[in-house]
Amino acid sequence: MKNKVSKIGVLTSGGDAPGMNAAIRAVVRTGIYYGLDVFGIVRGYSGMIENDIFKMESKSVANIIQRGGTILKTARCKEFFEPAGRKKAYDNLKKLGIDGLVVIGGDGSFRGAQKFSTEFDIPCIGLPGTIDKDMAGTDFTIGFDTAVNTAISAIDKIRDTADAHDRLFIIEVMGRDSGYIALHSGIGTGAENILIPEHKTDIHEVIARLQEKEKRKKLVNLLVVAEGDEFGGANEVAKAIKQQMPNADIKVCILGHIQRGGAPSSLDRVIASRLGYAAVECLIKGERSNTMIGIVNNHLHYTPLDQAVKATQTIDPEWLKIVKILAS
Ligand code: F6P
Repeated sequence: MKNKVSKIGVLTSGGDAPGMNAAIRAVVRTGIYYGLDVFGIVRGYSGMIENDIFKMESKSVANIIQRGGTILKTARCKEFFEPAGRKKAYDNLKKLGIDGLVVIGGDGSFRGAQKFSTEFDIPCIGLPGTIDKDMAGTDFTIGFDTAVNTAISAIDKIRDTADAHDRLFIIEVMGRDSGYIALHSGIGTGAENILIPEHKTDIHEVIARLQEKEKRKKLVNLLVVAEGDEFGGANEVAKAIKQQMPNADIKVCILGHIQRGGAPSSLDRVIASRLGYAAVECLIKGERSNTMIGIVNNHLHYTPLDQAVKATQTIDPEWLKIVKILAS
């Protein structure tokens, strides 16, 4: 059977995520195994527009499975959202004969891929690569597990010093529109409360719980706040609590971009490898375009790109109930 594609491009786009390198490695090595030429596109869609594209060999991806960041670099490219930008990108791919694309990124990257592969005759396969885990059609995104583990190890350290000083710590984790890092790192560290964008924060209830803990002399309290919580980030939450509890010793810690770096966890390496392999298989068979490949119940799962970005995941309120019961 003849492959449906012969030359494929791979790029990483949007915020980087640990495990992206493992995914690139899997795409390159699977492509070469099947006799394809594989091209690396540098800085996401910017490299497509600027023709910053190079042929990759098996050794181009040696010694990267354990590295965070992305060897292809990444960017958020506004020009690609204009028709003229996409046309330039298409012309560059055509010149090189690239007839299939693997896009590793988050929702913004998939919106770009969706537009591009609807307009032009180049099938695009998306792999969910974002620490935020804010995509429908997959139980995991590449980078999420590592980011949560990084947050957990930082919060464990904060607990030590919080305990030594009897302090209330308000810890802000990443997640502009998504509370998954907050939820998982908060549960994993025994946080008192978790504030996430998916649920309206009742600050009076948060304070009432802390006051009750104060009365009971429960002196170590950790609040984990997603940066995108509608009440505001950790600083806003701290201000509101301080007004009602002037004697409390409150510290704020914003974990920031450390959550995006570091060696990928075993889970991220394995899912990235599996998804990278599946993306190439998909392009070779030519049965799907405009599709994100995810993993659901440990099986590969295919979702049209527009649905993967549109249907944001919801968080069952029962998760927050668990947090409260376990922290009482
Ligand atoms: O990768 C997703 C994300 O980490 C969001 O949670 C966060 O708000 C955003 O990226 C930050 O992006 P940047 O690095 O461009 O500031």
